[in-house]
Amino acid sequence: MPNFTYPKSSRYTDLDLIYEQCSGPGGLKLAEFMAHKMGLYPGAKLLDVGCNRGWQTCFLAKEFGVNAVGIDPWPDRVSKEPMIEHLRRNAEVWGVESSVLALELGVPESKLASQSFDFVYSTTALEMLRIINGEDGYLECLREILRVLRPGGVLGLGEPMHLEVALPPDLEPYVSQAEYPWKECFRSLSQTRAALEEAGLVVDDARYAPDAEVWWREYAEHDPFCKQKPGEDPKAIEVDGGRWLSFGCLIAHKPA
Ligand SMILES: C[S@@+](CC[C@H](N)C(=O)[O-])C[C@H]1O[C@@H](n2cnc3c(N)ncnc32)[C@H](O)[C@@H]1O
Repeated sequence: MPNFTYPKSSRYTDLDLIYEQCSGPGGLKLAEFMAHKMGLYPGAKLLDVGCNRGWQTCFLAKEFGVNAVGIDPWPDRVSKEPMIEHLRRNAEVWGVESSVLALELGVPESKLASQSFDFVYSTTALEMLRIINGEDGYLECLREILRVLRPGGVLGLGEPMHLEVALPPDLEPYVSQAEYPWKECFRSLSQTRAALEEAGLVVDDARYAPDAEVWWREYAEHDPFCKQKPGEDPKAIEVDGGRWLSFGCLIAHKPA
């Protein structure tokens, strides 16, 4: 049973569709949890960094009334078209075309104007950039987020993380494979908090999501790639059994 109530996202019940359109654990539940913690309000300007197909971006525009810019620099690995083409189409599906803008950009070189957003939202995106750009590259992404936030503006960062424990040796082989091995990408909550502070953000709230296990279970069951390859991520989640794997959520603001 979930620990958090999801008054908005519980109305969207097709988990196969949600996990087809979102990438990573939590889907719309994650977006609602973060929106609640961030204190989103109608008319606020929000940047979604690494929006993928933008299902969460559209949900935030529809259910919280924000004006959202979704950025994503990569193509869809299946259709090969830019991810943001999905966001454009999904904005029509959700009826939020007038409040969602899709841009093929990424961090740290976003080209967006400084101090132009009230909120930056990013889920399950920056942690994998550690593989490409290392820990310094991760910090550069956070500094870019800081640059585009207005003073007092709020970052909501949700990432797959590990608990404050050593990696169990029997789990290691299951999180060391794949293009973006979890062992290399994931950090603990305290390490992530330290990174945000080093980048110049003030952390207001840092916690492991109370429903992290529910979100990972849903992901294992409904994500299309998990369905195709049950021996990979779903197996790692099963072997982990809640010992190491979690999901961290941090809310931080730009000092005035
Ligand atoms: C796992 S998906 C997360 C999707 C979405 N936030 C969600 O939860 O459904 C990560 C996304 O980050 C994007 N990405 C990769 N490099 C990026 C960068 N430098 N800046 C922003 N996004 C990036 C990828 O294209 C991918 O769509």
